[in-house]
Amino acid sequence: MTCWNRSNKQVDFELTKDHFKAILMDMFGAGSHTTFITLEWVMAELVKDHKTMLKLQQEIRMVCHNKENVTEEDLKKMTWLKAVIKETLRLHPPAPLLVPHESSEETQINGYDVPKGTKVLINAWAINRDPKFGQNPEEFIPERFMGDTSVDFRGNHFQLIPFGGGRRICPGINFAISNIEMMIATILFHFNWELPCGITRDEFDMSDAPGLSVRRNEKLYLVPREVDHTI
Ligand code: HEM
Repeated sequence: MTCWNRSNKQVDFELTKDHFKAILMDMFGAGSHTTFITLEWVMAELVKDHKTMLKLQQEIRMVCHNKENVTEEDLKKMTWLKAVIKETLRLHPPAPLLVPHESSEETQINGYDVPKGTKVLINAWAINRDPKFGQNPEEFIPERFMGDTSVDFRGNHFQLIPFGGGRRICPGINFAISNIEMMIATILFHFNWELPCGITRDEFDMSDAPGLSVRRNEKLYLVPREVDHTI
């Protein structure tokens, strides 16, 4: 296939079916695991912290009052939902070490010489929990992202980097966030969620499974109760 740039000039590489297949593979490989891991952690944090779940349901049901479904327009008004997702990604970045990078130039960090070509692993998990950037960093407190804080995960604030940063920042960030917001808002709009019989909030397992992408150690089983919006 001949390719054209934005100024309508022919460029000197070809886009073949193999390129498209590789890009689609990239999207599935990089996009599905990370998204479902985040969804699981959001729901786990919410059932563990019942007050936050109720507050979120209240926000969603107020914004979508008298509607059948959540729309993308509604999501823009859900500030508490955004704070809950941000706080979940802070505590549970699905790729805690991002992906391996390589230094393109020789440099010095904290007095250590780092030669060109060194493999660099960035511990986003530890950076996100650095006590320098907020109180009680081990606790789930979405309030830290409410009010006048501008801290975001789009690569401008290095204390919160679940999507990485710089030129190799996750290119799926907008797609991922819209999907996650829509799914969480929809399932919390239509259902109330409870732990299965016999499991208390204190016993509920919140440990990580080992791996390069980190999901919950135990499968997440929750009980949905349908909400009648006509009442
Ligand atoms: C919560 C969801 C997601 C998280 C936390 C996440 C996180 C990341 C991280 C940490 C990286 C590596 C960045 C770096 O090198 O510093 C990355 C790369 C990438 N992500 Fe995502 N991602 C998510 C969803 C998605 C989605 C939905 C897609 C596509 C549909 C996607 C496509 C990619 C691709 C193609 C790369 C490789 C980019 C490159 O090598 O230049 N991601 N992602």
